[in-house]
Amino acid sequence: MKPILLIYRTKTGFTKKYAEWISKEVTCKTIPLEKIKDEDINSYNIIIYGAGMHAGRIQGLNKFKKNVLNLADKKIIVFATGGTPCIEKVVTKIKKDNFTDEELENINKFYYFQSGVNYERMGMVDKAIMKTYSKILDLKNNKSKIEEGTRNAISKSYDNSSREYIKPMVDYINQLI
Ligand SMILES: Cc1cc2nc3c(=O)[nH]c(=O)nc-3n(C[C@H](O)[C@H](O)[C@H](O)COP(=O)(O)O)c2cc1C
Repeated sequence: MKPILLIYRTKTGFTKKYAEWISKEVTCKTIPLEKIKDEDINSYNIIIYGAGMHAGRIQGLNKFKKNVLNLADKKIIVFATGGTPCIEKVVTKIKKDNFTDEELENINKFYYFQSGVNYERMGMVDKAIMKTYSKILDLKNNKSKIEEGTRNAISKSYDNSSREYIKPMVDYINQLI
């Protein structure tokens, strides 16, 4: 069996929850991104990176790219978690905004899992950003359907994450090992 390393970055716990669900389905070592320096990354054949979305960006991605993306002969899987529902348009935009074409060639698979928003675990700065964004949407006239939905969704904590969402990723990993 090929060894798998799952690196995750989490602020409010959603990505950690997904990392735990994945580690229950496939045998892998799971570490937070902050511990990457303590790990012998080269001893793994499959490396998974997961993190939450933050204003359109996948958290911690630059550190992951610097340490892992150019390693030869590795299968690389990236997943992002975010409050936005998982539709093709959203996934395409996340990939386009976070990776160059060349980087995408080095990534075997990208997945996006819907999560939610957790105000109780959010830091003060993030809370302020969310409040400001919510206010902007409140004041905006002629909101699109997506904007209306986002405004309602982020008005309070919610959790739409589901273990079901990881199934395609687990199936793909099982093909690799
Ligand atoms: C300041 C801020 C910005 C966010 N931006 C986005 C975003 O652009 N797209 C999205 O889908 N979710 C966004 N979210 C929701 C988070 O991505 C979501 O809660 C994610 O699962 C957090 O992962 P974590 O709990 O592992 O840190 C944002 C949340 C915060 C607090």
